[in-house]
Amino acid sequence: MTKTYAVIGDPIDHSLSPAIHNAAFAFLGMDCAYIAYKIPKGELKEGLESLKKIQIAGLNVTIPHKVEMMQFLNSADNDCNLIGATNTVVNENGFLKGYNTDLGGFLEPIKKRNLECKDTKVLLVGAGGAARAIVAAFAREKVHKITVANRTKERAQDLIKFANKLGLETEYTDLVSAGNVAGNHNFIVNATSVGMRENACPISTRSINSNCVVYDIVYIPVNTELIVQSKERGATVIYGWEMLLAQAALSFEIWTGRKAPYDAMKLTLLGRF
Ligand code: ATR
Repeated sequence: MTKTYAVIGDPIDHSLSPAIHNAAFAFLGMDCAYIAYKIPKGELKEGLESLKKIQIAGLNVTIPHKVEMMQFLNSADNDCNLIGATNTVVNENGFLKGYNTDLGGFLEPIKKRNLECKDTKVLLVGAGGAARAIVAAFAREKVHKITVANRTKERAQDLIKFANKLGLETEYTDLVSAGNVAGNHNFIVNATSVGMRENACPISTRSINSNCVVYDIVYIPVNTELIVQSKERGATVIYGWEMLLAQAALSFEIWTGRKAPYDAMKLTLLGRF
């Protein structure tokens, strides 16, 4: 029987996940399909019931359901419990097992470049759901300190509390000051949506230099304003599509137990931009 997988969220029309996963299934000749299924906020319970009825084999969970989905899981792995959110679910005869591949997916491009995180200083711009997974990832890699810059100070403070619980040193800065001090950090990560489909930069890049690694999780466009300016300043850059692809590959491996065909997935993804 064909196994069907789905990404659930709202909005979901422009999700790149169906293209990436269907390319992987096709490349390996697997009898599987991956669909985008819109579930509006507040309708997660009903949405899940209908997906269980068609014996959905697995799910990716995206905005706005990553946190709420936790209460519908029958079991959750350590990363889910740590972050308080899930993005990957396996359905075994109605028993839902949750995983979180955002954490590992974020770290993968850093590891691929053999960049050391231990004892480094991080400037994290943004304090939403994505930023929380990134704090957990850097905590695992034992960075020295995370400076959180965010438009809304209260949200930054919540994230800082979380980072402190994980044993990290922390500091808060506003977005303007962040631009002045960015160059003193080993990693500068944009976890806001600023730059997505617009020509804007979340912070000033004036202090960024060749000792910095600049990681933008925005992937549309590929060359965000932050990436373009950081490259001009000689920084090492990591693109948002690399995280997108890495978390997809990890989800694929959880569902199928097979090694994800990374290059086939990458070709399809980059072809979409
Ligand atoms: P996600 O789950 O993708 O992280 P989110 O939880 O809505 O989404 O978080 C979005 C992040 O982008 C937040 O840090 C948000 O800042 P606020 O906490 O102040 O809302 C940030 N963000 C979004 N639009 C922004 C803008 N125009 N300028 C600055 N920050 C912005």
